[in-house]
Amino acid sequence: MTGGLLLAASCANKTATTAPAIPADKDIESKIKDVMKGMTLEDKIGQMCEVTIDVVLSDSLKDGLPQLSPEKLKTAIEQYRVGSVLNTPRGEAQTPETWYEIINGIQEASMEYLKIPDIYGVDQNHGTTYTTGGTLFPQEINMAASFNRELVREGARICAYETRASNIPWVYNPVMDLGRNPAWSRIWESFGEDPFINGAMAIEMVKGYQGDDPNHVGPQSVAACLKHYMTYGNPTSGKDRTPASISLPELREKYFQPFKVAIEAGALSVMVNSGVTNGLPFHANKELLTGWLKDELNWDGMIVTDWADIHNLWKRDKIAVDYKEAIMLSINAGIDMSMTPYDMEFCTLLKELVDEGKVSQARIDDAVERILRLKFRLGLFETPSTNPKDYPLFGSQEHAMKALDLAVESEVLLKNEDNVLPISAGKRILVTGPNANSMRSLNGGWSYTWQGTDDPKFHAQYNTIYEALRNEFGEGKVVLEQGMDYVEDYGKWEQVKNVRIQSAVAAARGVDVIVACVGENSYCETPGNTNDIALQPEQAELVKALAATGKPIVLVLNGGRPRIVREIEPLAKAVVDVLLPGNYGGDALAQLLAGKKNFSAKLPYTYPRWHNAIAFYDHKPCETVATMSGAYNYSADIDVQWPFGFGMSYTTFEYSGIEVDKAEFSPEDDITVSVNVKNTGNVEGKEAVIFYSSDLIASMTPDVLRVRGFDKVSLKPGESKKVSFTIPAKDLAFVNYEGKWTLEAGEFTFTLGDQKVNAKCTSTVVY
Ligand code: BGC
Repeated sequence: MTGGLLLAASCANKTATTAPAIPADKDIESKIKDVMKGMTLEDKIGQMCEVTIDVVLSDSLKDGLPQLSPEKLKTAIEQYRVGSVLNTPRGEAQTPETWYEIINGIQEASMEYLKIPDIYGVDQNHGTTYTTGGTLFPQEINMAASFNRELVREGARICAYETRASNIPWVYNPVMDLGRNPAWSRIWESFGEDPFINGAMAIEMVKGYQGDDPNHVGPQSVAACLKHYMTYGNPTSGKDRTPASISLPELREKYFQPFKVAIEAGALSVMVNSGVTNGLPFHANKELLTGWLKDELNWDGMIVTDWADIHNLWKRDKIAVDYKEAIMLSINAGIDMSMTPYDMEFCTLLKELVDEGKVSQARIDDAVERILRLKFRLGLFETPSTNPKDYPLFGSQEHAMKALDLAVESEVLLKNEDNVLPISAGKRILVTGPNANSMRSLNGGWSYTWQGTDDPKFHAQYNTIYEALRNEFGEGKVVLEQGMDYVEDYGKWEQVKNVRIQSAVAAARGVDVIVACVGENSYCETPGNTNDIALQPEQAELVKALAATGKPIVLVLNGGRPRIVREIEPLAKAVVDVLLPGNYGGDALAQLLAGKKNFSAKLPYTYPRWHNAIAFYDHKPCETVATMSGAYNYSADIDVQWPFGFGMSYTTFEYSGIEVDKAEFSPEDDITVSVNVKNTGNVEGKEAVIFYSSDLIASMTPDVLRVRGFDKVSLKPGESKKVSFTIPAKDLAFVNYEGKWTLEAGEFTFTLGDQKVNAKCTSTVVY
């Protein structure tokens, strides 16, 4: 790693006078001091240890339900002084009542043995992942596609309420990994490829989860955990938890900036990237953990490891000889809590390290103060448990309707030739493809189980695409013949079985429209790795065979990753990418295909067309130089399936009259750019207006485009609205070769729709 350069940049940006990201609360700070006074070193180290629920669960069930083991609880909490537990019993969703029983038992033991409450953390990632009967929302990639800040915040608020109804105060969300490798198995957990959108949506999630006052997170709110700090979403190989290589300017400008704005919005905790970046595992990177995150932002929040990642420093990444050295490296780097998650040897070894002077008492105190602060901010000392009976709106219709609204606003219309959509009433429809009748594929991973594996007991009450279309268009009008089924066994999510393409072709003969639902089955993390992002060959064959019938095809893409569909896309009249829209995704699609609702989503990532032409919207100019004269003619043309920000509607929007309020501006100015947007079609619609800037000439090759803002406006037919964006000129800055923010004198272009306007920055500033 270019340690010197990074360090220089870090120091240059650090100012002792930076205002605290979260202003300290005097009362809480004095309570922390009081608690600390009564703690032994063992007490303190125990607070830094987080174990998985298995460590304290009994091997036997009680009335078929998981139960705590008093002996194991005593060992973990009385003997090792453990301060945090995570994860769901038996790896699957529990009822709010079971959650209450289990976490309440842990809290009672914690208060008895430690006089300090436990902090329990769960991956409630897109709604209540791990609580049965709760409200599952679309995954984050859909949230980004909706471009609807209000709905995203509301989704997080509802998730917080239902999570607290499950007696859980801490969620491991939002995911803020820029999805910059389409093969990566977690790209759907992210807000897509753009730093601004990641930051803006993460702010909404933080506020939705925590409420507006991070010092007083009430009993209907939870603590957010931004993850995975940082660059996890861009492994060079595309495989989960493999190395990334990111230059210093990019690291600061594109990866750190979204975390920075979410921290400034009050995020209370951060989880670290499990991988290796620029040669150094993140869990041992003092400069980026302590330097950039804690010191530079003056942030008093808490950093937790990802799963077993201190072990990984020696077992996997080979930067330590043993567990003890790995603990030393990571705690000294700035880790406050270790998700060990099975062992408590962590406590013994860390104590030895302090006794040997290899980890300072001051570092331990700092970590423990951060953990206690989080517990005080959550009100856990006063209210260690929250009871489901106080949460009458858990799993309510009111919450379900918000999840449906978000699903409707997140499914992307990518093609609609000859207005084949909407499908008129009375038409006969074949629903086909392996995703046609599956809740598992609509929800994706982190849905009742880690891999989202199929279990009707969790989701039988919701509608698959087939069921929703049948409800919408009528029983007799909708036929199901999938043509193949996914293999549902663990680890075999990429395989299909019972391939019967000719049955689907035969079924197509009697219908007017074919809705072909293809894509992926659910997966998560490393088991979701793939060697090929092409659509599975059998699925492509199905679409080709159906096309030969001459019936119009509506291609529905449903999956976590953008699968290459170059060959079959021309065979479809219409294409809708529903991404991973959740339990109400089938209903949303039915309403959209019937024209009862209008499409308004846009792609939050570039949809690739070729395996070897992976590009992002903010690429460099040389990536689109089609030919170079002379002997060295070559093609560097970017050829994507659908660009970032693309998405259609049943209506049309016209942009006109773009204006910038200053033809010349200084780095201290604010700039306002506005445009009129008019609905020129026949139906009401919502338009996501994306505000881009381009730095025309800079001392480092500029990106061709950068998102600087977005807004979503609703317009009736014929209606127009003026949409304005005001930003500080400094938002146009880039990070230079030395790692410093720089706004240079020169010309900028602002783009809104097909409208462009230029303005000039009159001086240069480096900061
Ligand atoms: C994942 C995290 C998750 C953690 C706890 C890890 O494997 O990478 O995203 O929060 O497990 O479940």
